[in-house]
Amino acid sequence: MKATFFTAGLVGLAAALPQGAVQESSSTVAQTSTVSVSSPEDVPQATSLAQAAAVNVTISVQVPSEILDTTSLNADSPALLTTKPVESSEFLSPADFLTQGLSLDDIPAVSVDPTTLSKRDFFGLFGSSISRGPFVNFLKVAAQIFVKVEKVIVFWTCPQWIRPVPNTFPGWRKYKSNGVNLGGWLVLEKNIQPSFFNDNAPSAIDEDSFCQTLGLAKCGALLENRYNTYITTKDIDNFAAYGVNTLRIPIGYWAYMPAIAGDHYYTGSQKLAMQKIAQYAITKHNMHIVVDLHGLPGGQNGLDNQGKTGQLTWWNNQTAFDLSIEMVRRATDDILRQPNSGSYTISLINEPLPALYYFGQTQDSIAYLNKYYVAALKEVRKRSKTLPVAISDGFIGPQTWDPYWTNVDPYIVIDTHIYFFVGGSYSYDAAYGACYLAKSYQNASNPTFIGEWSIQATNFNHLGDNTRRDFYRSQLQAYTQYLSGGMFWNGKHDGDAIVGDDGSAQKYYWSWQLLAAEGIVPRPGDKLESLC
Ligand SMILES: *[C@@H]1O[C@H](CO)[C@@H](O)[C@H](O)[C@H]1NC(C)=O
Ligand SMILES: *[C@@H]1O[C@H](CO)[C@@H](O)[C@H](O)[C@H]1NC(C)=O
Ligand SMILES: *[C@@H]1O[C@H](CO)[C@@H](O)[C@H](O)[C@H]1NC(C)=O
Repeated sequence: MKATFFTAGLVGLAAALPQGAVQESSSTVAQTSTVSVSSPEDVPQATSLAQAAAVNVTISVQVPSEILDTTSLNADSPALLTTKPVESSEFLSPADFLTQGLSLDDIPAVSVDPTTLSKRDFFGLFGSSISRGPFVNFLKVAAQIFVKVEKVIVFWTCPQWIRPVPNTFPGWRKYKSNGVNLGGWLVLEKNIQPSFFNDNAPSAIDEDSFCQTLGLAKCGALLENRYNTYITTKDIDNFAAYGVNTLRIPIGYWAYMPAIAGDHYYTGSQKLAMQKIAQYAITKHNMHIVVDLHGLPGGQNGLDNQGKTGQLTWWNNQTAFDLSIEMVRRATDDILRQPNSGSYTISLINEPLPALYYFGQTQDSIAYLNKYYVAALKEVRKRSKTLPVAISDGFIGPQTWDPYWTNVDPYIVIDTHIYFFVGGSYSYDAAYGACYLAKSYQNASNPTFIGEWSIQATNFNHLGDNTRRDFYRSQLQAYTQYLSGGMFWNGKHDGDAIVGDDGSAQKYYWSWQLLAAEGIVPRPGDKLESLC
């Protein structure tokens, strides 16, 4: 059997870790384990290697030549699709074999100078593409891997997340948000609570069609009841028990002004319901509130989460622009009227997409969004010099906005969303991808929070082992350690769509409430094995 050996000697890496890179509460425990991977099905077990790999690891990888023929490398497999086949000159992935027709003879020996490695250079070594999964995809083609791991476990202790007393918010540069979203409450989303739709208007797909189907009177009565019952003070107490210090509350333009002709939204006591819950959260638990303008006049993303699926007429539309600015004025005035207005942030737009399902921006859309941000900020600043204002990065990364927003306003914060359910990630890898992304965002010129995140990956979602726990906790750690924190999407979720390869439903990856009940959400002071 012809075989090639990889030897990635990360010897001495633990010693090379920069002092103070980890929280002072960290401690280390040496462990030795041997893991053998003989088929792709063993891969979840093998990722414990990846967990160990941040430290003192010697990995010898034996790749028999037959394996490239016997392992089905299917071009449809998202893990193998990559636009950048070679990301590291030192390492070749399965995708590289596919796209470049390489043979085993082309595998170079990997030599690593431990003194130049920092803690998460493991990604650099094995390729950093989150869509590909840095390590696991390689393991998939290795028939036999003999590994001797001397594992140093680094712990991260969940902090007592800052809870400033009302009106003393320290600003997003200092604040660390351990937050949840209250999605599906004041703006309906069918996937969040399918039964609410199925019981009342089964054919409806979003809030607009819900009210169109039922008529405003019936729809209004149902929604009014929902505003007062779906989120309660008990929910807020439960969040607080886990150290949640921030609520991001999606709300539509129609909470502030009547529905535009052609829209079928109900305008009722959304604002009042939000104020009541916010006031309770602020005074009882010292929480911070992000009022998130989730549905803009005309529709900014075409998704159901803005209220009306398929509507995308916000862009390059002066009428919609002017109405949006009016919405910002009213939302700002509404916040400033609150007794604890110093405990709020206003978020100007949610997930703007210039074209349907295009999760990026064009030069034109960046310019247009920026025009909106400038005009909206001006309205906010006429009313308050210090109300924090969140602007969405539009899925293009916080740094993209540096040219426009460096040293412009001290109270700007970037809201970016990190989701792994699209893009080809693997559930047991995504934890590392989150750490990598968070670190890559930390030098943007404005502070960044992750306004939405969940624990559904693209592949191999499943219950029954620690994958979900690790994914949740590594994101919590990464966003806390490197950024201004984030808000889990979503506080509540009853989604029954099947997303796991074990048949598990969406809610097991999207419901904070459920994850807390299952012991996956840690509490302040809990000591966690650090994956970041
Ligand atoms: C790392 O590995 C080297 C070489 O085997 C060994 O001398 C050293 O003690 C190890 N360090 C830790 C922290 O395990
Ligand atoms: C512009 O926006 C307004 C307000 O939402 C909407 O009524 C109108 O249809 C939009 N115009 C176009 C051309 O889409
Ligand atoms: C942020 O880091 C990246 C990668 O290291 C670098 O290219 C970029 O210039 C940095 N940006 C700032 C604003 O420091």
